[in-house]
Amino acid sequence: MRDRVLKALREAQGPVSGEALGKDLGVSRTMVWKHVKALREQGCPVTSGPLGYSLDREADWLHPMDFPGMEDKIHWFAETPSTMDIARDMAKDGAPHGTLVIAGRQTAGRGRLSRTWHSQEGGLYFTMVLRPALPVAQVHKPVFAASAAMAETLRDAAGVDFRVKWPNDILSGDKKVVGMLSEMHAVGETVEYLNLGVGVNVNNSPGEAGPRAASLKELAGGMFSRRDILRGFLARFHASLEGEDTAEVMSRWRANAGTLGRPVRVETPGRVIEGMALDVDDSGALVVEFPDGTRGLVSHGDCFHR
Ligand code: BTN
Repeated sequence: MRDRVLKALREAQGPVSGEALGKDLGVSRTMVWKHVKALREQGCPVTSGPLGYSLDREADWLHPMDFPGMEDKIHWFAETPSTMDIARDMAKDGAPHGTLVIAGRQTAGRGRLSRTWHSQEGGLYFTMVLRPALPVAQVHKPVFAASAAMAETLRDAAGVDFRVKWPNDILSGDKKVVGMLSEMHAVGETVEYLNLGVGVNVNNSPGEAGPRAASLKELAGGMFSRRDILRGFLARFHASLEGEDTAEVMSRWRANAGTLGRPVRVETPGRVIEGMALDVDDSGALVVEFPDGTRGLVSHGDCFHR
């Protein structure tokens, strides 16, 4: 019934009274009011005035109905501890490739290396359940495709020169606007699912995450549509993942990278590596030239531009 109330509000040409809505849907006015209240609690922008209820179409709400053709795969939560947890349960229960869990805010958002991802209202927080039919050795393909697709999307949206820091953060200068976290489950040598969580600082103020975090709003001024960013990202990401091979994805990543050709420090558990970042290979490892002129591959770690 809640979805039917929402659908009726979306289709209405102007404000519609609780009584008229109830009559159309065969329920009481009080019942309509209860559903409107529940919708508002989910973050749905329903306003009420002297002529009745109306839906603010311009509001930046991320409801499944705003993603035509994908409604069945989108799961929206106004607030949740972490979209990673919900996506993991869904993936275990067989959720299909492309399932998307989106939250308005997270109370226990997780970052890489057991860090917290501050997830206030105004940011974009989602986890995709992917079943890319890849060998484990190529599981990095969707993650590199995602960071390149997001950098392109944000550059288009905000006109700021966002670049990917190896492996998958997105920065403007030294300010981080996007982080990505992946969790994989494999059966033998094949990826069964890869859950890819993406946090984008859009209209929030991520100051509590530290001086090196910033949002689109802070960097470019003005408010941005999370809905347009997500739509743009999904179109680019799926075109790349499904239309390009791993080598092509890595070339696209290189074209969006800010790390290559720069001195870097990579902190791995037990080892700090310093040198010049030259390239990435097709496995996603960073090719580093050390001060003595030798070269090596770094496959994981926390990378800092120096
Ligand atoms: C990082 O840079 O450390 C990765 C941050 C990943 C944050 C996203 S927000 C959506 C998803 N849910 C989480 O709890 N984390 C990821």
